[in-house]
Amino acid sequence: MNPVYFIGAGPGDPEFLTLKGARLLSGCRSVFAPTPFEDTFASYLEGKTVLVPFDYYFDELLEKMESLRRMGPVAFLVPGDITFYAPFQALIDLLGDAAEVIPGVGTANVASATLKKTLDLPGVCNRAIIASPRTLGDADDAPTLEDLAAPGVTLLIYMNNIPLGELVAQLRRGYGANVPIVIFHRLCLPGEEVVSGTLDDIVDKVGERDFFNLGGPKKRPALTLVVVGETLTASVDGEWWDYRRKTLWQYRDESE
Ligand SMILES: C[S@@+](CC[C@H](N)C(=O)[O-])C[C@H]1O[C@@H](n2cnc3c(N)ncnc32)[C@H](O)[C@@H]1O
Repeated sequence: MNPVYFIGAGPGDPEFLTLKGARLLSGCRSVFAPTPFEDTFASYLEGKTVLVPFDYYFDELLEKMESLRRMGPVAFLVPGDITFYAPFQALIDLLGDAAEVIPGVGTANVASATLKKTLDLPGVCNRAIIASPRTLGDADDAPTLEDLAAPGVTLLIYMNNIPLGELVAQLRRGYGANVPIVIFHRLCLPGEEVVSGTLDDIVDKVGERDFFNLGGPKKRPALTLVVVGETLTASVDGEWWDYRRKTLWQYRDESE
């Protein structure tokens, strides 16, 4: 039977497809492309059968996939990359060896590149935490974003569903300070907006814009990533480089 490829497709712009992803995609007759990838990848999908996976319940999806697989290799375009919050795990587990997963460029990678900032800057940030308020759970002892936010943490918030004012209040309590925050909306897609600010001014900067799709007719989480923490605006000089040269890069027996 033909293979099924789960191809990390990046945030939406095909320029972020890997060479391997592009090669395997070109050999597929059928592609499941989550909206808006059926549009942004249109030139890569010409002549192929294209379906939107979220239009189906699991059994229907499986049936469609199996019937297409009889005719040739099938691809799923995975938004960003499989590493975080990818919805296809049940299919991949079921397919076993017939599934091949191709890594891609995650939204976090593009956000970091957009800012031209590494998200872990020694001395400023000693840990990065990836979280979504949708998946933290609602048990009494479930962690909140306030619990995760703390000095030295870079927090990447996916699929936020907390109104911005409330989100900022939680983060302010966690960090205990006014730290930088950046909202990345529709990175690499039409309508892209990047709003940078601090916990104290971001609500005013965003104004009426519904970046988290809290008022829209569709329930699907907005394509918006929030990144918070001191590292977003921190900068370093050559001393930082030399410290690493001395402590990490040189041979153990190398003298100064
Ligand atoms: C189901 S998760 C998929 C994450 C994906 N696997 C990744 O590696 O980026 C969907 C969430 O990822 C973020 N996201 C995905 N695409 C985005 C984009 N183009 N711009 C900003 N955020 C995006 C948003 O937080 C969105 O709610």
